[in-house]
Amino acid sequence: MKISVFGLGYVGTVSAGCFAQDGHEVIGVDPVGTKVDLINSGHSPIIEGEIDAIVAAMVQAGRLRATDDHAEAIRETELSFVCVGTPSQANGNLDLRYIRRICEQIGGALKHRTATAKHTVVIRSTILPGTMREIVVPILEESSGKKAGVDFGVCHNPEFLREGSAVKDFRCPPKTIIGELNRADGARLATLYEKIEAPLIRTDLEIAEMVKYVDNSWHALKIGFANEIGNICKSLGLDAHEVMKIFCKDQKLNISPAYLLPGFAFGGSCLPKDLRALAYKAKLNDLVLPIMNAILPSNEMQVARGLGLIMQNGHRKIGVLGFSFKAGTDDLRESPVIEVIERLIGKGCDVRVYDKNVKIASLLGANRDFILNHIPHISKLMVEDIDAVLDHAQTVVVGNQDPDFRTVPDRLRKEQRLVDFARITNRKSGDGKYDGICW
Ligand SMILES: NC(=O)c1ccc[n+]([C@@H]2O[C@H](COP(=O)([O-])OP(=O)(O)OC[C@H]3O[C@@H](n4cnc5c(N)ncnc54)[C@H](O)[C@@H]3O)[C@@H](O)[C@H]2O)c1
Repeated sequence: MKISVFGLGYVGTVSAGCFAQDGHEVIGVDPVGTKVDLINSGHSPIIEGEIDAIVAAMVQAGRLRATDDHAEAIRETELSFVCVGTPSQANGNLDLRYIRRICEQIGGALKHRTATAKHTVVIRSTILPGTMREIVVPILEESSGKKAGVDFGVCHNPEFLREGSAVKDFRCPPKTIIGELNRADGARLATLYEKIEAPLIRTDLEIAEMVKYVDNSWHALKIGFANEIGNICKSLGLDAHEVMKIFCKDQKLNISPAYLLPGFAFGGSCLPKDLRALAYKAKLNDLVLPIMNAILPSNEMQVARGLGLIMQNGHRKIGVLGFSFKAGTDDLRESPVIEVIERLIGKGCDVRVYDKNVKIASLLGANRDFILNHIPHISKLMVEDIDAVLDHAQTVVVGNQDPDFRTVPDRLRKEQRLVDFARITNRKSGDGKYDGICW
């Protein structure tokens, strides 16, 4: 393919060099003359393993050159990668000035492009969800006078390389994500990655934009978490690397998809208690651990969010399906749904609850003590089956993933509303009838 790469920084130079190595004809574009001159003389404008040799070989082979002329690059290529910077503003917001400018320039050049083959513009820079549809596409359309998806293609293809191992990461990425406006444009871009052995995921523009931020937030969280664990270990005289090596060997619950689906708050007899104990121990050792100490408050906010969602329609008759701390157990200790029920009662709601696993008469020990301390009259609120909850409630709350609740969305009366903490259905939230906690 004939490819143009706009922005010859870390991402652009590596992309330009590697696409040329793959056999494509590449034109790099940058307003900084020194970068253009460096490439054209066979040198990389960035320090990065392997890239200097790649640029030298590709320029020599005639497959890579650079220019500061945007129009020329658009005229002579069929696919453009945008790799300009997206830095922070002083208030933390994303600074899109380079993205806006490059879209005006590319759009202006597309206006005069007469080639019959459709040109595709691929944004590789990191951009917040909505940027493609609300900023990139409108600017490209306005400045070109053409229609995205019809007269030219548009994709988002976030970059996952890490400086220091950028060429290796380009060749061996953890995944390739293509956010597409339409299937044909995505398919065209996908052919570039045919030889790369990594999962190729084609999805909506906004999902692709978001995944990159989730990745980077997760990586940052992992580092901060590990460092705080290291600080605790040091204060306890423990080898933190030994601890974390063992932690990482657990690939069922620790380094795995477990616990990574958004939903309602956690609870139960272990997580809150153990977090509190570790945080207290750290405090005794004079440690400040902002990440560890933020977990319980974040969880409490999710309880408050759930309560707010239930209350937002002003309904007073509430039915709760599933209130043990998760499906398949009768353990009520620190169940966040119990916390919600308690607050609903406190707000004067008329509540009925059902959980097939919970029989108050059979509860024992700490579990029995917990519920009787929190809602002593819970037995009076409990009903025998799902139907009794549905008969009573204006708003029905599904508290856990008991498979018996899956039919509930289809059994609601016209005026009834469902608040779903467990994603028992894939319906879309916000139609006044159905609200998911975070979907
Ligand atoms: N650096 C990384 O490791 C990395 C990894 C993944 C994603 N990203 C993302 O990729 C994007 C680029 O990052 P980077 O580190 O390569 O940035 P950079 O600052 O190194 O390079 C950006 C380049 O764009 C050029 N530029 C600015 N306006 C231009 C225009 N109108 N036309 C052509 N070129 C223009 C600049 O002169 C500069 O050379 C950012 O959104 C970043 O968040 C970076």
